[in-house]
Amino acid sequence: MAANYSSVNRNSPYGSGDPYYNSSTGYITPRQPQKKNVSNWIKFGVPIAVLVIAGAVLGGVFGSRASKNASASNAASAATSAIQAKNSIGIYPTGTDGLYMLPLYPATTNTAAFTKPTFISTSNPNLSWPQDPFQPSNPSPTQVRSDRPRLIAPSYKWQALPNLIKNDPYLSSWNQTIFSNASQYMSLPPVPYVLDSGNGILDPARQVKQRVKAFSYVYRMTNDTRWLDRVWIELQNAAGNLTGGWGPNDSTRWNPTHFLDTAELTAAYAIAYDWLYNQWAPDQLAKIRFTMIEYGLSNGAIAYNDANDPLFFGWWRNNTEGNWNCVCNNGLTMGSLAILGDDTTGIAQQLLSMTASNAVQNCALGPSSDGTWSETNDYWYFGSTGHAELSSSLLTATGSTYNLLDVNPGTKLSGLFHMYATGPGSLFNYGDTGPNKYTATANPLLFYGEQYDMPQYQLFQRDQADAADPWSMFWYDPSVAGAFWDGLALDHFFSNSTDQWASMRSSWTDENALFVAAKAGTLQGHETHNDLDCGDFVVDALGTRWFGELGDGNYVAEGYFSNDTQGSERWLYYRKRTEGQNTILVGGANQNVLAAPTANFDSSGTVQGSSTVFDVPSGSTTYFTADLTSAYFNTTSFSRGIRLLNKRQQVLIQDEINASASIMWRAHTNATIALGNNNLTATLTIGSDTLEASLLNPPTGAQFSVMDAVRLSTDPPTPAAWPDQPNPGVMVLVVSLPAGQYTLEILLNPQWPGVSSSSYVQPSSVPLSQWSLTSHP
Ligand SMILES: *[C@@H]1O[C@H](CO)[C@@H](O)[C@H](O)[C@H]1NC(C)=O
Ligand SMILES: *[C@@H]1O[C@H](CO)[C@@H](O)[C@H](O)[C@H]1NC(C)=O
Ligand SMILES: *[C@@H]1O[C@H](CO)[C@@H](O)[C@H](O)[C@H]1NC(C)=O
Ligand SMILES: *[C@@H]1O[C@H](CO)[C@@H](O)[C@H](O)[C@H]1NC(C)=O
Ligand SMILES: *[C@@H]1O[C@H](CO)[C@@H](O)[C@H](O)[C@H]1NC(C)=O
Ligand SMILES: *[C@@H]1O[C@H](CO)[C@@H](O)[C@H](O)[C@H]1NC(C)=O
Ligand SMILES: *[C@@H]1O[C@H](CO)[C@@H](O)[C@H](O)[C@H]1NC(C)=O
Ligand SMILES: *[C@@H]1O[C@H](CO)[C@@H](O)[C@H](O)[C@H]1NC(C)=O
Ligand SMILES: *[C@@H]1O[C@H](CO)[C@@H](O)[C@H](O)[C@H]1NC(C)=O
Ligand SMILES: *[C@@H]1O[C@H](CO)[C@@H](O)[C@H](O)[C@H]1NC(C)=O
Ligand SMILES: *[C@@H]1O[C@H](CO)[C@@H](O)[C@H](O)[C@H]1NC(C)=O
Ligand SMILES: *[C@@H]1O[C@H](CO)[C@@H](O)[C@H](O)[C@H]1NC(C)=O
Repeated sequence: MAANYSSVNRNSPYGSGDPYYNSSTGYITPRQPQKKNVSNWIKFGVPIAVLVIAGAVLGGVFGSRASKNASASNAASAATSAIQAKNSIGIYPTGTDGLYMLPLYPATTNTAAFTKPTFISTSNPNLSWPQDPFQPSNPSPTQVRSDRPRLIAPSYKWQALPNLIKNDPYLSSWNQTIFSNASQYMSLPPVPYVLDSGNGILDPARQVKQRVKAFSYVYRMTNDTRWLDRVWIELQNAAGNLTGGWGPNDSTRWNPTHFLDTAELTAAYAIAYDWLYNQWAPDQLAKIRFTMIEYGLSNGAIAYNDANDPLFFGWWRNNTEGNWNCVCNNGLTMGSLAILGDDTTGIAQQLLSMTASNAVQNCALGPSSDGTWSETNDYWYFGSTGHAELSSSLLTATGSTYNLLDVNPGTKLSGLFHMYATGPGSLFNYGDTGPNKYTATANPLLFYGEQYDMPQYQLFQRDQADAADPWSMFWYDPSVAGAFWDGLALDHFFSNSTDQWASMRSSWTDENALFVAAKAGTLQGHETHNDLDCGDFVVDALGTRWFGELGDGNYVAEGYFSNDTQGSERWLYYRKRTEGQNTILVGGANQNVLAAPTANFDSSGTVQGSSTVFDVPSGSTTYFTADLTSAYFNTTSFSRGIRLLNKRQQVLIQDEINASASIMWRAHTNATIALGNNNLTATLTIGSDTLEASLLNPPTGAQFSVMDAVRLSTDPPTPAAWPDQPNPGVMVLVVSLPAGQYTLEILLNPQWPGVSSSSYVQPSSVPLSQWSLTSHP
């Protein structure tokens, strides 16, 4: 009785030539196993010993920052024993899942360790950082500290670090990983000059920076000149001074027309110059300076001076919506701070008089008022890394962050933005996901945690796979204690009109948890990195992503970044079109780029407690609704609601639409799909797990069907040379209806182990206007 979609017209451009199309069954098999499993190669080095803690007293002695001056010596020794006890627990996760690279937490209760996030007050130099002795009373970007290093990791921190590493399991683990990564890089040839997927050299630039960071770190921790020599080779290489050269032999060697590349290479040179300052001979220092000025800073001066900028290197100078201003100003600032005082050309001084204030007016405005990075979730990594490196470098080198951290209150919230965007099936990664990350990590959470007194940011990020990074060794505060999830609300609504999105989950620590994120938001003002995706959602459950995103189109395809007007060629590409999103398509047409949706949200406000095992209380729920009418043509009204049901075990997606053109509900999945019950149910299977989707109270004619994730035959074509990328393994679950007025209710029931079918609820129909926290079971 189950109707497989073999009989559906799959409209495949590959036809029977599609290697994944089985002509006898009609099935398309998923290309890759999508179920996550524990990866053995990235088990953390330090084993967890959750129960050895003799910590009954811990909760009582955790102080807050406010009590840092408590001077009673018994308080100090209690703090010391609290930190020692905390550190004896080791690293919380037992490993990292192989597919999504997220931490796996043990299912355990440990009320002594898993307490509310805090920084413990202590002055024990083995357990916390000393205060920076450099505290200028009147800081200026051109007045640098007298000792080296200046950038991010001053000398007093290097001196304190070995003892901190010995006493902190996270620092200890990261130190080991950085050593082992540096050894891997050592065995590779110098970074080759190759064009990346954007036809620039951003990938090589970030790889050079990544290596210089690791080699310089290991050199300083060992004094072994092999590492110093290797830094020199990478610098020579990027200067074009090794056999074969590296890029054009002129002032554009570092590709200033795509200034990110120039900026990241300048930052790499800055670290090498500054962290290894005392090791370089004077002629080496002179060569590093000369090369950094020739290919980096001089182009920065051109960027800051339109009259000499015919190629418009500096378009990013008044860009407030993106990562560019952060990355570009950061590279120029780190480079200038590194050589200030040695530079006889005056260029470092000149740039420093402009970069910090420019970044305050532009880079720092990247996050919206609610913390959302207005490009996309993935671009947050690039922008925030630039912002944190810039702020941290200015702070250590000159004693101030010059309002970079407080001019925009949204920056503090951007840590929450990243945490809530992270589901057990990875990010809510709508829109473009950007180039390879290399040196762009989520470690700004460590810096922000320290700067904003948000210990939960540090506790969240220290468990992540990308935490092992030289920056973390200096941004992490080893006096942090507790569990980021203890007291953390399960749900959050990001209300700013540019994104308007909701994050909803059943647990912060269960890799199998239910996670739903959904968005409305505007379709312009995202640096042309967005999709036409009002109403889009993702669903994770049972350790996998059931409905997800397709990611980047081809960055070099014709018109891909042309603009975000209705007629832009960008909207010709399937992955960017409305049909490529998990939302409704009307008349087969793209959404209206002038969409101005309104959204509403409510939550029971449920917070997780101390344990990693969280039993959702009955009545705990949340929902997100949005009026998306303005996003559509030929549509009188359209509202979408998404809510969690039955103690966050089920999901209801309800659409109320009245349209004068055809209507198509679409959601993309890696699952294989079997239809049943007269096509009113769809059984999705990934690995050994299943999710049942059903159409409740179906309007006449409504039933599920399945399509390939390919453009519709009615679409205008892409430019001939730029076909859509294939979306291997992805199918679209569809409900097609003629023009008309409908309420569509689609219930998603992940088949949880141990939950009997009678435990699933079937809600009665409630109009969106009457949704409340108690309107559904
Ligand atoms: C710090 O640790 C070192 C060993 O790493 C030890 O010799 C020293 O006594 C410790 N200092 C304090 C104040 O605990
Ligand atoms: C850092 O890790 C390396 C490699 O594992 C190790 O040799 C070194 O002792 C560690 N440093 C400290 C301070 O523990
Ligand atoms: C360090 O190596 C690990 C694997 O050992 C890898 O997952 C990680 O990406 C590397 N980190 C960096 C910054 O290269
Ligand atoms: C490396 O050399 C510096 C300067 O001589 C010294 O202060 C530091 O202790 C040495 N570090 C190691 C790990 O030997
Ligand atoms: C690069 O250019 C410089 C002068 O602009 C020249 O001296 C040098 O020989 C050139 N190198 C190569 C490999 O062509
Ligand atoms: C690379 O070679 C050029 C030409 O000899 C020199 O001016 C420059 O300083 C060198 N750069 C480095 C980093 O050695
Ligand atoms: C700043 O933006 C305006 C338009 O908004 C543009 O005309 C100008 O060229 C930009 N300047 C720079 C340096 O990018
Ligand atoms: C959204 O955030 C921007 C900053 O990016 C701010 O200018 C704007 O006022 C915010 N809008 C609302 C409705 O809060
Ligand atoms: C398919 O699985 C990959 C890997 O987990 C994920 O990144 C992607 O978003 C999934 N695609 C869909 C449409 O769910
Ligand atoms: C937007 O880009 C398209 C090409 O993709 C072009 O035809 C159109 O003129 C552009 N519109 C604006 C306002 O730049
Ligand atoms: C609206 O519907 C009409 C009639 O079906 C169609 O001709 C027109 O192209 C549609 N407009 C858009 C923007 O889809
Ligand atoms: C279910 O869908 C299949 C494929 O589209 C179709 O062949 C079949 O007739 C449908 N069944 C019903 C009862 O409509």
